[in-house]
Amino acid sequence: MDNIRDIDEIKARIEEAVKDIKSSATMREIKMKFLGKAGEIPSLMKKLKDLPPEERPAMGKVINALREWAEGRFNEFEKMVKAAEMDERYQKEKIDVTLPGNRRKKGAYHPDTLIVDELVSVFAGMGFEIYEGREIETDYYNFTALNTPKDHPARDMQDTFYLGADYLLRTQTSAGQVHVMESKKPPIKILSPGKVYRPDDDATHSPMFSQMEGLVVDKGITLCDLKGMLDEFAKKIFGSGVKTRLRPSYFPFTEPSVEVDVSCFECGGKGCKLCKGTGWIEVLGAGMVNRAVLENCGIDPDEYTGFAFGMGIERIAMLKYGINNMKLLFEGDVRFSKQFRV
Ligand code: PHE
Repeated sequence: MDNIRDIDEIKARIEEAVKDIKSSATMREIKMKFLGKAGEIPSLMKKLKDLPPEERPAMGKVINALREWAEGRFNEFEKMVKAAEMDERYQKEKIDVTLPGNRRKKGAYHPDTLIVDELVSVFAGMGFEIYEGREIETDYYNFTALNTPKDHPARDMQDTFYLGADYLLRTQTSAGQVHVMESKKPPIKILSPGKVYRPDDDATHSPMFSQMEGLVVDKGITLCDLKGMLDEFAKKIFGSGVKTRLRPSYFPFTEPSVEVDVSCFECGGKGCKLCKGTGWIEVLGAGMVNRAVLENCGIDPDEYTGFAFGMGIERIAMLKYGINNMKLLFEGDVRFSKQFRV
């Protein structure tokens, strides 16, 4: 072999190859081609044995020197390629920390949520437990067990959405009372918020709305306990100067039944637009749990008595926040909800 010429020629090809290397991947390829196990320089080493023995040491030295030179050269270029690559990456990933960030828009609690939270905290303070009933009920729980059998005229007030013959969308959270009394022995003190459904639709009615039910059953509970508790509730929700009054009413599942009014918190009882000049605003229905309902739930009415109340959350929200159309509560417009942020 023409060793010296081989060596110079390899050197020239290495210089040529490294000159315009752009990536460390091609760098690795070229390095393998010359220095890898089967690369050109190690192959030269293997050919040493074909030389006459006296020439081998000198030639060995020359090849070693070539290998060292090549390694040095590759390392130099490798550094340059890597630095260029890093630079390119920095440029690509560069961010302007002075640019304004992408702000996430803040939501707001719905007025219903604000009222429910407030009611829950007022009643929890009086020792009420939360019970969440079911929205799909049977005719029995929504009506019959609540002393409203199939032929009862009060059913007319709460026509409903039926889901086949046995199931319906509950028209009142009162349906939950029956589940609670069936599964729990007195003393009972529960508060039950939830959605209810009725085929009504106008400025103050929606086919789906929310109610808050309360139920207290124990020995010796009277209408006075209901009145005392309502006074407390009204003061906390509508303001400390507010009074309550009870008016006779009718619900099949309470006896006696009452409609509860609060003195107008807008005009202080003098008469204004909100209270339609009467000085009073109706806020909920209530009464003493009917003996028949207690019996239906396996509670002895001679031993226990109780009261129940139910209010419309949207109605309370509309009164408290001065909202004049119920539809606004169902549009999901955050600009609307934001006005009631606490
Ligand atoms: N469930 C009644 C309604 O929806 C309200 C109510 C609840 C009345 C509890 C008395 C007792 O109109």
